[in-house]
Amino acid sequence: MKALLLGLVSFYMLVSSRTEELPEVDNNNNNKALSSLDITKRFDDLAARLNILEQELKMKQETPRIAFSAALVNEGYCGPFNSPTTLVFSNIFINLGNSYNPSTGIFTAFVKGTYYFSFTVFLNSNSKMFTSLMKNKDRIVSVWDNYSPDSNDSGSNTAIVQLEVGDNVYVKLYEERQIFEDGTGYTSFCGFLLFPS
Ligand SMILES: *[C@@H]1O[C@H](CO)[C@@H](O)[C@H](O)[C@H]1NC(C)=O
Repeated sequence: MKALLLGLVSFYMLVSSRTEELPEVDNNNNNKALSSLDITKRFDDLAARLNILEQELKMKQETPRIAFSAALVNEGYCGPFNSPTTLVFSNIFINLGNSYNPSTGIFTAFVKGTYYFSFTVFLNSNSKMFTSLMKNKDRIVSVWDNYSPDSNDSGSNTAIVQLEVGDNVYVKLYEERQIFEDGTGYTSFCGFLLFPS
């Protein structure tokens, strides 16, 4: 239905933009009326141009398929380290568009647009956990857990951000902080392109 409407609109725009090219009606009847051959030719021309416009419109409307989801594969504790560390989620569930690099843990935007990201972290000791979702050098959202009487804690956070081509998004584990993963999938990271722009 949408395609049909777009087609009709394009057809109308084409026809109206070409009316000035149609031969003037000559009151002295010197100009012959358009022959059926001319009309067929014009119709074919319009149909061909409509086809090109439809292809262009389709290409513009198609959202690139960019989506990834991955978990940490650590056998046990990750950290504490004495400097901030990018978490490398290398157990890939899906990586459409390959914008996420499973050997560095960094998502790089190849398409300008609005993106959704979410991450979840887990710690089963009563040590300290502090992680942030980062956009280049900027902290976006974080998960924090401090010493507490209970040991097993999990937290997650989500953000929707606008990215330019080349922007990097990743999860940072702060110095002297720790998380845990044993293959169960307690600690994970995912994201996808909502709208290109
Ligand atoms: C804490 O998590 C570990 C898994 O990492 C589990 O084996 C253990 O039973 C949990 N402890 C409690 C008190 O829930």
